[in-house]
Amino acid sequence: MKKHIAVLAGDGIGPEITDGAIAVLNKVGEKFGHEFEFEHLLMGVCAIEATGEPLPQYTIDRCLASDSVLLGAVGGAVGDKRIEKLPGHLRPEAGLLKIRSALGLYSNLRPAKLFPALAGACPLRKDIAERGIDLVVVRELIGGIYFGDRGRGVGEGGEFAYDTEKYSVMEVERIARIAFDLAMRRRKHVTSIDKANVLESSRLWREVVHNVAKEYPEVELTDMLVDNTAMQLVKNPSQFDVVLTSNIFGDILSDEAAMITGSIGMLASSSLGATKRGLYEPIHGSAPDIAGKDIANPIATILSAAMMLRDSFDLPEEAKAIEAAVNAVLDEGYRTADIMSEGMKQVKGSEMTRLIVDRI
Ligand code: IPM
Ligand code: MN
Repeated sequence: MKKHIAVLAGDGIGPEITDGAIAVLNKVGEKFGHEFEFEHLLMGVCAIEATGEPLPQYTIDRCLASDSVLLGAVGGAVGDKRIEKLPGHLRPEAGLLKIRSALGLYSNLRPAKLFPALAGACPLRKDIAERGIDLVVVRELIGGIYFGDRGRGVGEGGEFAYDTEKYSVMEVERIARIAFDLAMRRRKHVTSIDKANVLESSRLWREVVHNVAKEYPEVELTDMLVDNTAMQLVKNPSQFDVVLTSNIFGDILSDEAAMITGSIGMLASSSLGATKRGLYEPIHGSAPDIAGKDIANPIATILSAAMMLRDSFDLPEEAKAIEAAVNAVLDEGYRTADIMSEGMKQVKGSEMTRLIVDRI
């Protein structure tokens, strides 16, 4: 199989970690007889510096011409005045929103799983962690308040600003179907998150999700208010299987879900739309404070590449080979700084990549 992969390495540790995933994909190609071709494109601070825009049209066009997209991370250093003074639509993050929307990637899957070898890194009480954490946040990605009408004006209280949360039945239906289909392949439980006690958009969300649920009689559906969900995630995370959310609620809750596994450097994500072309990225950010030191953990990006093989290219055996190699390296006690614990062997980011490549 021959595939053309667009690489948006982005900023901070982005280039180091995408290099790790590329090395792993090349090894998989060699071993299983595939040809992966990589095209590096600009997005984020690097694109702003080179072209004045966070997402040049050329990058969008080339991503649309690719079979799938691998992304590192975008975002500049906190306190970088050149970036912070930019208007909203020219900030690096706007590039990320624009590429999601341009590729029609409405469905964002963020699995949060407690790796047995890393149980010690879980910040929750031992009796809670022991019940296990294995959930997937299914986040709507190109609607809601991120893309709704926004603006500023001047009123009685002086200057004001507003953003709008708006969802159509179609938008809720299609993301709900993703969640229920996924639940059918897992533990058959969907928790749908809303704030229906206050928001009209949430009341519509709840109605539509219940209608879609009728098509999936085997799946149990629970409605949960977003504030309660924030609490339940630390109190009893083992109750969650598939967590269905709007764009903003998923943004917030997926950080929490990742943190409770103690391994934000380990978690991959996929974003897909109506076609097989997806965007795959680690869920962590660009971490400019540790960039260039070769200490960043490449595993989340490497596992994102595995998701790409499975979900975009229908190569489950190859995906499994990567996941098994990652597990083997962890079982052997190798750790990057972020997941280091007593008695383990600390390695650099590039060393971690090499160890994984060797085991494929
Ligand atoms: C994420 C990030 C982005 C988001 C930012 C960088 C625009 O936080 O992918 O979760 O809010 O979606
Ligand atoms: Mn986020």
